[in-house]
Amino acid sequence: MSAAPVARPELAGLAAYSSVAAGDVPVRVRASSNEAPGGLTGPVLDAALAAVAGATRYPLIGGADLAAALAVSLGVPDSSVAVADGALPLLDRLLLAYLRPGDEVVTAWRSYEAYPLSVQVAGGRSVAVPLRADGSHDLPAMAAAIGPATRLVIVCNPNNPTGTVVPWADLAGFLDAVPPDVLVVLDEAYTEYDARPRPDTMSVPALAARGNVAVLRTFSKAHGLAGLRVGYLVASAGVAGAVRSVLPPFPVSSIAVAAALASLAHPSALADRVASTRKERARVAALLGSRGIVVPDSEANFVWLPLGPRSSAFAELCREHGLLVRPFDGEGVRITVGDPDLRAVLAEVLAGWE
Ligand SMILES: Cc1ncc(COP(=O)(O)O)c(C=O)c1O
Repeated sequence: MSAAPVARPELAGLAAYSSVAAGDVPVRVRASSNEAPGGLTGPVLDAALAAVAGATRYPLIGGADLAAALAVSLGVPDSSVAVADGALPLLDRLLLAYLRPGDEVVTAWRSYEAYPLSVQVAGGRSVAVPLRADGSHDLPAMAAAIGPATRLVIVCNPNNPTGTVVPWADLAGFLDAVPPDVLVVLDEAYTEYDARPRPDTMSVPALAARGNVAVLRTFSKAHGLAGLRVGYLVASAGVAGAVRSVLPPFPVSSIAVAAALASLAHPSALADRVASTRKERARVAALLGSRGIVVPDSEANFVWLPLGPRSSAFAELCREHGLLVRPFDGEGVRITVGDPDLRAVLAEVLAGWE
């Protein structure tokens, strides 16, 4: 009898990170993964292409040039920043650094679908606190769910997939209530789309100074670099250092670093993308509303259609029209906004939706 290597038991029954397929229909609009529309252009494309020619060399250890640029733009010391190949790999490293077997991670639910998978892989246990009826985080219930085994709490703000945000004052009260040995991860993957003014008490330096807060951000969404894979974490030097210690020495490619630096250095492309996405978001919400589909107020680059049991049928009708959207069976459908062709295709879909 031949023995085979045995994977860790925590991996048993691990769900797959799902993707949406077009099947036999030509794709007209891809609105299923909250990516920015269009392709790379201008200085960002130029920087990425120039970096390809230099790719015989390793990048700087720890993505130090990008970390330094982020530190300057955010007003924190370099020691407070960790960069890697996306916000999700950084969350995984946070869990690797902080989670012990059996520890609990409190999240809202429904929220970003990767959270329970990452927690399971890390050997932890997810404690999922239902969203309120309006799709927003129930922060008092999340605070009440923190117990002796809780090691981390994740607040997704704006929340994927509902697009809702937590009021800054409520977040401040929540952070004050969380015990100092529990790490709060503020997943701000979509923060650039959030039009609300941010009080000084919730600025990135103020959050990092709290000691038990880690802010996660990404270049995948508003910066439009999802395929290049760049994210960053800002926290106290202690937390950021723990995460850096479990990252590989070269956590971001030189091409991704070059593109991210160019995007930081030329903020007008980001500002234009954010402005047009916000306008389009209002128009898409109005179109849906005119057909009786009321979406929660979104501060992200997507809207949430709470269609309940009809969600999968709606997504299938979209697919038949070449529109890829993200259904969550029995709950709702998330549609990424930003593509200028979205409304025309969505109007066709809605014309056939009873
Ligand atoms: C809330 C949230 N966090 C993190 C991520 C992952 O970002 P990245 O591409 O930087 O890994 C996503 C991507 O969809 C997301 O929606």
